[in-house]
Amino acid sequence: MKAQEIKYICFDFLYRILRFFLFKFNPEDVHNRVLKAGASVARHSLLSRYAEKAVVYRDSVLSQNICGIRFENPLGLAAGFDKNANLCDAVRLCGFGFAEIGSVTGEKCVGNPRPRLWRLPKSRSICVWYGLVNDGAEAVSDRLRGREFKIPLGISIAKTNSPETVDIIKGAEDYIKAYKAFYGIGDYLTLNISCPNTYGGEPFMRKEYFKYLMEEISKLQKDKPIFVKISPDLNYTETDDIIDICLQYCVDGIIISNLTKDRKGLDIKDGYVPEKGGLSGKLVEERANRLIGYVYKKAGRKLVIIGCGGIFTGRDAYRKIKLGASLLQMVTGLIYNGPHTPAKINYELSLLLKRDRYTHISQAIGSDLSVD
Ligand SMILES: Cc1cc2nc3c(=O)[nH]c(=O)nc-3n(C[C@H](O)[C@H](O)[C@H](O)COP(=O)(O)O)c2cc1C
Repeated sequence: MKAQEIKYICFDFLYRILRFFLFKFNPEDVHNRVLKAGASVARHSLLSRYAEKAVVYRDSVLSQNICGIRFENPLGLAAGFDKNANLCDAVRLCGFGFAEIGSVTGEKCVGNPRPRLWRLPKSRSICVWYGLVNDGAEAVSDRLRGREFKIPLGISIAKTNSPETVDIIKGAEDYIKAYKAFYGIGDYLTLNISCPNTYGGEPFMRKEYFKYLMEEISKLQKDKPIFVKISPDLNYTETDDIIDICLQYCVDGIIISNLTKDRKGLDIKDGYVPEKGGLSGKLVEERANRLIGYVYKKAGRKLVIIGCGGIFTGRDAYRKIKLGASLLQMVTGLIYNGPHTPAKINYELSLLLKRDRYTHISQAIGSDLSVD
């Protein structure tokens, strides 16, 4: 067994002990404490240098240039964990190749009333009903402006969760406010049109409203690549409409997917699951994978796919790549398996690629599907 593997087995063991205690507390309180602890580690230069050396796995097989951005590895932190951009320096210490902050909305938002986060450990999932709690575009962009980061930074923006933005024109204006606030900040921008927990639902997933939003955004200066994050609950006709509009308005890629809202047909093993909220982790994995394969077959490499949902291991990551994802994101696997998990996944992924005689990750993208 290689030293790298022994190291990750030790981290697994230590995290299992820590998780035993963490999971005794309210999930949202733990989330907030972890954000503070992570930011403190990153501020401490000696500690962060040690953490980076001990955890991070690097291999040129995994590095790619996508949309003009250099990604040292394909795995990023998905939106929702670092909503207010407090962890940007800490994320790379876990081995992530990029980070997406947010979702940030035009206005500051207190989100839905607590409790709004539940662990579903038997299903290896989280039920999320945060409702886009965040400090707002102005405060978050002020926090980031002028700073430089060692890994690419994505900015996820969404419509403020309030009755005032339910109107489509007001909703689009809210996106535009956030869009403009982040001019000159970050490496790419994500339009999150699929948050399942907001007042008035997800109107911008409807083709006429999504087209309207893209029309308004296309009138603005485009200073970085744009991605659109979709729901795993879309049917193929709805997905086709989104793909067409994305191609028409020169969107660079699609993030597949957000949380699933539809409980039908899910193998939920936990006794209590709230009726409200979206589900992450293993409960969304198959739905996300189905859609990744579908979008790759339809759009080929005209749209970059960021695969997200239920990645816990290198095998999970590899599956999404073979279905057509060029990049990957995760949150829930980090919570259940620990902060070293992204590094471990990169290590496992590079072993899987080499086992299958790929000399570079790009050769494996979509290899399970044939595209015209
Ligand atoms: C606690 C939590 C908060 C989230 N908040 C957001 C968010 O603000 N914006 C967003 O686009 N996705 C959000 N998500 C969805 C994730 O980014 C991701 O799409 C989803 O959880 C599936 O990935 P996973 O199985 O690796 O967690 C959130 C997920 C979790 C678990």
